[in-house]
Amino acid sequence: MSNDSLANLLKEERRFAPPADLAAHANVTAEAYEQAKADRLGFWAEQARRLTWAKEPTETLDWSNPPFAKWFKDGTLNVAYNCVDRHVEAGHGDRVAIHFEGEPGDSRAITYAELKDEVSRAANALLELGVRKGDRVAVYMPMIPETAIAMLACARIGAAHSVVFGGFSSDALATRIQDADARVVITADGGYRRGKPSALKPAVDEAVERAGIVEHVLVVRRTGQDVAWSDSRDLWWHDVVGRQSAEHAPEAFEAEHPLFVLYTSGTTGKPKGILHTSGGYLTQVAYTHSAVFDLKPESDVFWCTADVGWVTGHSYIVYGPLANGATQVMYEGTPDTPHQGRFWEIVQKYGVTILYTAPTAIRTFMKWGDEIPAKFDLSSLRVLGSVGEPINPEAWIWYRRTIGADRTPVVDTWWQTETGAMMVSPLPGVTEAKPGSAQRALPGIEATVVDDEGNEVPNGGGGYLVITEPWPSMLRTIWGDDQRFIDTYWSRFEGKYFAGDGAKKDDDGDIWLLGRVDDVMLVSGHNISTTEVESALVSHPSVAEAAVVGAADETTGQAIVAFVILRGTASESDDLVAELRNHVGATLGPIAKPKRILPVAELPKTRSGKIMRRLLRDVAENRQLGDVTTLTDSTVMDFIQAKLPSSS
Ligand code: WT7
Repeated sequence: MSNDSLANLLKEERRFAPPADLAAHANVTAEAYEQAKADRLGFWAEQARRLTWAKEPTETLDWSNPPFAKWFKDGTLNVAYNCVDRHVEAGHGDRVAIHFEGEPGDSRAITYAELKDEVSRAANALLELGVRKGDRVAVYMPMIPETAIAMLACARIGAAHSVVFGGFSSDALATRIQDADARVVITADGGYRRGKPSALKPAVDEAVERAGIVEHVLVVRRTGQDVAWSDSRDLWWHDVVGRQSAEHAPEAFEAEHPLFVLYTSGTTGKPKGILHTSGGYLTQVAYTHSAVFDLKPESDVFWCTADVGWVTGHSYIVYGPLANGATQVMYEGTPDTPHQGRFWEIVQKYGVTILYTAPTAIRTFMKWGDEIPAKFDLSSLRVLGSVGEPINPEAWIWYRRTIGADRTPVVDTWWQTETGAMMVSPLPGVTEAKPGSAQRALPGIEATVVDDEGNEVPNGGGGYLVITEPWPSMLRTIWGDDQRFIDTYWSRFEGKYFAGDGAKKDDDGDIWLLGRVDDVMLVSGHNISTTEVESALVSHPSVAEAAVVGAADETTGQAIVAFVILRGTASESDDLVAELRNHVGATLGPIAKPKRILPVAELPKTRSGKIMRRLLRDVAENRQLGDVTTLTDSTVMDFIQAKLPSSS
């Protein structure tokens, strides 16, 4: 990536020091970086002691057969015991583990003691259904406590779960069931979404039919809607789990025992089953959840707004917070049901102190207007987190000012399904924060930016993000496909993990993420990142959201095409479009001026909130649309296409 076009983000000069009181009592201080630098494996061995091992590991890392890592390989532990039982044994049985808030407004508080009983019952139920250590169980659920309970029950008996996001189609579910060879599916009749019950069971029925290998379907009753029933296959959770004993003695498994397989959809090719194992994964999610959010389990109320169907939900709803004995909120529904202040109402109701959400949500809240959060008491908040894509400085500042009263640190956490846990992020009691930058690798992690040849770039340079040393929560392989694991992540640069993200280092050596490398445009020989042009557009007061793509162009190779959502008050006009083009030109340089800017009402997003640039590229190049099945709302594309003149 050339540097001349990468100037925009570096112009961001606002800096935010950690609040003095937070810094004074922070879980992690600057010393951690030095300690980990001096002895990285010693540092992780020490972090592993956060967990309760049945047999303490004596070997930290076996890297004798790269890229296949073994962390803590002679240690044994039970992950569910670590997330539940040990907190009860330590006298915290009455602490609330999960404050569940249903979309219709029903709520339920589950203590650690209750969670232990429920997880034990569910574990006994799975055993009764014939699930054994080493098996896989598919989980296709709404955001309800039983989802976490089901995952922990699998972990407890040594079966790997494979959670499939409840918004995915029966097709997607069927291929994942087949690939993972899952014989049991745990689901619900449905969940609540946008004010009404949304069915899940019919998709499971279809998928199970297609996959042809499922023996039992365990169904949680959530909505009470009618469901088709197969007497030989389907079982109600409340029957089968309900009648089990609440006693279950957890068995210790090896640290490298599989914990879960989670499929990443990716933009091309067959989904990849990312395999995570037990001891290293739990060590890094527990450490990062404590360090990056400065979690104090006795007093904090943590809320991660992700769905459990994504890795964020696995690591920062289920495993990290529960391993740390935290109290957290789990919310079933959408942010605008029944009103656009729902998130802030929940923060107020539970006194949420740490909030973890995504830039796409933050930009949506900006668009809805400051007066909505202003109606609620958000004074309990003390740390704000962001994850999922680069957060543009405007959204970062809005998050801090409007939600955090200009008081709370914002931690922009870079990681992936594959990395299992956070990798690059500020620490709230240490880092002088820069809006828009994830800044530096966490203690114990070695990340840098390299050029096309794999050489580390100097400060000020741009290229690709790589991880240069193995880390405890790294993926162990792609399920059933070691070669694809090697090819995808370890072949681009010798001996380094290739993350697939463009990145650059600023003059201080801080890392700025620039989006997936497939999202880099080549305009008249200049590399321009879609993220930078989007960021420039969103910094204009009339623009709420922007998505930028490179469309094939005869003269320039690629031409920049921008799709923008205007803010409530701005109205669409040629003047405004011209102004926006000039604004980008003034911010990034004339080469980055979009050739076309199209105001639209919505952008096509995947269910995890990522903009599907592939579809916008299809539109910009007048092609027939590719696969739209992973979109949250496929009608969005009809509206966008209708707006376009038929030629470019
Ligand atoms: C990709 C991974 C990590 C859990 C959710 C997504 C992008 C993620 C950031 C961030 C810039 C980010 C990257 C990464 N990404 N967090 N803070 N700044 N980009 O997991 O679906 O596996 O996606 O999300 O492009 O590679 P995922």
